[in-house]
Amino acid sequence: MSLSPREREILALLRAQPLLDAAGLARSLGTSKGAVAVALSSLSQKGEIVGRGYVLRGEPWAVVVGGAAWDIKARSLATARLHTSNPAVVSRMPGGVGRNIAEGIALLGGRVHLVAAVGGDSGGRDLLARTAEAGVYVDQVVTSPHPTGSYLAALDTDGELVIGLSDFAATDAMDVASLARAQELLGRAGVVVVDSNIPVEVAGWVLSVAATGGVPVVLEPVSVPKAARIAPLLDATRPVFAATPNVDELAALAGRPVADERADIVDAAAVLHGRGVTHVWVSRGAAGSLLVSPGQVVVLDAVAAEVSDVTGAGDALTAGFVYGLLAGDDPVAAARRGHLAAALTVASGHTVRPDLGVAVAAALGRRNPTETEGVTR
Ligand SMILES: Nc1ncnc2c1ncn2[C@@H]1O[C@H](COP(=O)(O)OP(=O)(O)OP(=O)(O)O)[C@@H](O)[C@H]1O
Ligand SMILES: [Mg+2]
Repeated sequence: MSLSPREREILALLRAQPLLDAAGLARSLGTSKGAVAVALSSLSQKGEIVGRGYVLRGEPWAVVVGGAAWDIKARSLATARLHTSNPAVVSRMPGGVGRNIAEGIALLGGRVHLVAAVGGDSGGRDLLARTAEAGVYVDQVVTSPHPTGSYLAALDTDGELVIGLSDFAATDAMDVASLARAQELLGRAGVVVVDSNIPVEVAGWVLSVAATGGVPVVLEPVSVPKAARIAPLLDATRPVFAATPNVDELAALAGRPVADERADIVDAAAVLHGRGVTHVWVSRGAAGSLLVSPGQVVVLDAVAAEVSDVTGAGDALTAGFVYGLLAGDDPVAAARRGHLAAALTVASGHTVRPDLGVAVAAALGRRNPTETEGVTR
């Protein structure tokens, strides 16, 4: 969050003397009450102070560093004919792994900031507006010289993928210099999520900032090639609190084949423990997951679901987990929350279901998921 020097001074004073009023602040700073009022209103707009009496924002927040893009689906009306035009039904939905995870966390009631890159085009503005509407802070999204990312899936009339084409140049071109202003937000976060779609040097910088601040990192490996690319970053000097691979991504992270059976998964997870990853949470689709921590293996069942569309399952799983960590859950309880969010997502037909918070609350038999969790946005 970009704060002016004056705003920072005011926050420092309020931390030391929470009961200072505007006149007292003005006296301490040698400025006018009017100037203090302007800074206070800006601080409250930025969420740094909440409510009357300048109560400082106390709740922890997550920062997700990752991709943001439009997912465009075109489904041919008749059997697709190649090398020519086909009438189709086309839909466009906000996507990108990091963006999806951030949206999920916000929908569950967590405070979350997205660090990503979009183009300076109407698609970018639209994507940010949609993301902000869901409750994600988008103040740290940077404008790229490249167009806003898109993933285009051409589907046959039966829904089978004919071809997928992606333009993630804006995410691929993210660099440390343009993200530097997010450093403070990252270093003071409750949880930092790394979507492995970001460039490796950016991921390395994020891990270092988090390590310096003692902030737990959740690493989402995304895919086998992205996991292989990010694997060399893992070492104990830049610890990862939890990684969330499926079995194939675990193999790519550990650098060796892994059979989808408990003993082999536990052995491969031990390789990652040796490289600074505390919890290796291995997702196995409908079979649930294994949470492998040093000296402890917890077997977690998936939550039963009638599958409508599995797209977004992994993103919801991670979102539920991170929300749980923010709410103060231990990793096992957080993982259970992840499975619930994932099951409700695969059952919904949406990649990120807009009613995720309500659906989770209903499933847990509560009216408001934030009521008993102590995490509010
Ligand atoms: N058929 C299903 N029934 C219930 N839950 C499911 C089902 N399929 C997936 N899930 C949930 O979604 C989670 C993530 O799915 P999966 O293990 O396939 O992850 P993934 O391979 O990383 O997928 P993604 O490509 O979405 O990242 C599972 O851990 C589980 O909680
Ligand atoms: Mg996944």
